Amino acid sequence: MEYKEHYSVLKNECIFQFREVQKFQSENEQMELLFADLTFGAGGHSFAILEEIENSKVYATDQDPEAIENGTKQIEARQLQSKIDLLHINFEEFAHKMSTNLSFEGLDGILIDLGVSSHHFDKPDRGFSYRFDAPLDMRMNPNSGDPSAADLLRDLSEEELIKVFQDYGEEKLSTRIAEKICEQRKTAPIKTTGELENLIFHCYPKKWRHGKTNPSTRVCQALRIAVNRELDVLTRALCELPPLLRPGGRLCIISFHSLEDRLVKHYFRRIARKEIELTGEYKVLTKKPILPSAKELEENNRSRSAKLRVLQRLS
Ligand SMILES: C[S@@+](CC[C@H](N)C(=O)[O-])C[C@H]1O[C@@H](n2cnc3c(N)ncnc32)[C@H](O)[C@@H]1O
Repeated sequence: MEYKEHYSVLKNECIFQFREVQKFQSENEQMELLFADLTFGAGGHSFAILEEIENSKVYATDQDPEAIENGTKQIEARQLQSKIDLLHINFEEFAHKMSTNLSFEGLDGILIDLGVSSHHFDKPDRGFSYRFDAPLDMRMNPNSGDPSAADLLRDLSEEELIKVFQDYGEEKLSTRIAEKICEQRKTAPIKTTGELENLIFHCYPKKWRHGKTNPSTRVCQALRIAVNRELDVLTRALCELPPLLRPGGRLCIISFHSLEDRLVKHYFRRIARKEIELTGEYKVLTKKPILPSAKELEENNRSRSAKLRVLQRLS
């Protein structure tokens, strides 16, 4: 399957933020503007930065080997090899990586577009979606050696499963579902998305089974967050990335669920108030998050839960 086209969420809004940095830096017209797109995916945001912001260069990262393979081809096809450095790493390692780069002088913008890409959901063998019956993997980097979703369902205790489903999925039936998983795995472990969907479906009372949201949605979200340690990785990034900005530089984070958005909001506020000690001074530019326009919502249903928050380095 070809790497799927991905609708780049809040793209114009992110470019607007980076153009503002460009205005701030415009006293020095020769200066190359440096950006980091830490969730490259299909490259939509990176390519837009290079097209829209003159004299720019992008450091891009993605932990998904398929995104890197496709991205490398796209970059070559567009002859952008000198404009984009694409790294196959988890962005939690990015700040450390930059600190070992002696010629690194700081960034004018950093973008994180959290979560999974359409490619993950639409490719059955990645095991992200209950729409297909496939091995329950859900690792954004399947070569990482980290446990897959099936491994967690086999190895976590009942209490740990309840906590994952409650904390990361806000699933009301967490206890019943965890209980059923533990009962089932005594005879045969749950290995596929289809088996998990079937189990959850039967945990739900009949009248709730055919609602607007598939009964498996919240547990799948919870498992994906746990498998990829998404909130821990984001927390580390929030503490390490702001000092990589040059004065005037902006950190833009797009999140898709309340757990992530709360974390971003909370850390941005604490960094600006100096409750978290970082080199530099910072200002939160978004008291309220920036939301997709009506046009974007019409064009892309997956944008409906997106929120953009922006932190600026002052000095
Ligand atoms: C929503 S998609 C990004 C789409 C991209 N902005 C575009 O316009 O095409 C998120 C991407 O980030 C990657 N990703 C998520 N968490 C990551 C992490 N911690 N480190 C590196 N890449 C990550 C995923 O593999 C996925 O390809």
